[in-house]
Amino acid sequence: MSEFQKDFLWGGATSSSQFEGGYNEGGRGLSHMDYIRRVEKSDKEKVFPINVTPEMFEEHKQKEDEYNFAFRRGSDFYHHYKEDIALLGEMGFKTFRMSIAWSRLFPTGLEEEPCEDGVKFYHNVFKECHKYGIEPLVTMIHYDIPVYLTETLNGWESPKVIDYFVHYTKFLIDEYKDEVKYWITFNEINMIMNSSYLGGGLFVEKSDKPEETCIHQALHHQLIASALTVNYFREKAPKCQVGNMIARLQNYPYTCKPADVLATQQQNQFNYFPTDIQVKGYYPNSILNYYRKKGIEIEWYTNYEEILKEGTVDFAAISYYHTAAISADPDKAEPIGAFIRNLENPYIDITGWGWGIDPTGLRISLNDMNDRYGIPIFIVENGLAARDILTENLEVHDTYRIDYMRAHLQAIKEAIGDGCSVMGYTSWGCIDLVSCGDCQMTKRYGFIYVDADDEGNGTYKRYRKDSFHWYKKVIETNGQEL
Ligand code: BG6
Repeated sequence: MSEFQKDFLWGGATSSSQFEGGYNEGGRGLSHMDYIRRVEKSDKEKVFPINVTPEMFEEHKQKEDEYNFAFRRGSDFYHHYKEDIALLGEMGFKTFRMSIAWSRLFPTGLEEEPCEDGVKFYHNVFKECHKYGIEPLVTMIHYDIPVYLTETLNGWESPKVIDYFVHYTKFLIDEYKDEVKYWITFNEINMIMNSSYLGGGLFVEKSDKPEETCIHQALHHQLIASALTVNYFREKAPKCQVGNMIARLQNYPYTCKPADVLATQQQNQFNYFPTDIQVKGYYPNSILNYYRKKGIEIEWYTNYEEILKEGTVDFAAISYYHTAAISADPDKAEPIGAFIRNLENPYIDITGWGWGIDPTGLRISLNDMNDRYGIPIFIVENGLAARDILTENLEVHDTYRIDYMRAHLQAIKEAIGDGCSVMGYTSWGCIDLVSCGDCQMTKRYGFIYVDADDEGNGTYKRYRKDSFHWYKKVIETNGQEL
């Protein structure tokens, strides 16, 4: 039947670095995200903000007071959490996805004991959630790593970071297991292959290894850290449910030429492989073969096969934004790192940021994953970015967002009707926050408008958009009224 189950987890999602702010309060240490600088569009052709190089990093440190480090401000959830959670409660949220800032608890990553203020802050946030019947869904790391680990160990390139991370996650489990039932270890673990600074807090330029080897080595460390964390859940917090997460990129063959279909299959295998490992507990042959062909030699972690086998997750989470078409034609198939360039699909519209709008792709993806993994799927990010306008009456008429979400929720409903097991949906940036790729406040996703601009000017007051009232109804009717 095409219906959302009664306990469907409706909600919205955020991340600490993009939303929390308070970067220099409560003893928080800096994270590598705090060194990503907002650059104007005209400069963006030359500099992509999230791909920080060692030279850029040094420059950013020199100009700490001059540059616009928007992630440091986020949307100031640190000071607004009570009213923010009250608004989510008003919408009837069943769950709220947020992440914990590692450096708020362990400022450099190396401390034995956590920072008390940080520990209290998250207790307060969870308490506030429960006041409104909201189950927190916590991501243990949404990219942000203490910058000290980037500077001293080259981030996830070093296996030592596994120990520091597991020390941190064991603390999270011991401290919060009774307040948080749903957890995700790593946000979009596959993003390290797109941006190694963002996803791995590392500089490929500083590694002795070839670029791709360095990235896959760091990813291996993340997969181990995730599995060791899952193992600890099993031991100490069996009532908690833990998931992995990838940025799901559903690819289509550009034509029905077998070569295009094969190239697409390979891209999809590449997109899925971290989830294959985290759900099935072993590296698939397709990726091992890819390593052999490319001469990528991984220094395997001791007992890695056993660790991965024991550290499999309860649910598979995805972000889903867009789809792309793949061609094997050498004139069209320009390689970008390990990927082939995505081509525009003439059958779908695009957002103001060029992302293909494709609700059917979500239905396809859910079916695909359901067949492949057979465990519940959680859509923990999806949404439409737009330049919303706050009217003089302090309203935002975002019908475009409602249309987008209605179509995606309809697709989920149909996928459920196809037999897919979907446990919840948390739309991205439910309260406006700083965009990740663009380091920009005015690329908005929320049901709630935050009065701030790209430079951090504004009152940071919150206003309900039209989509707020629409989503409230959706939740109230458990998706009967879309
Ligand atoms: C996901 C990330 O990839 O996409 C989020 O997990 C991010 O952190 C979201 O914000 C949307 O991307 P952007 O660049 O529009 O913020």
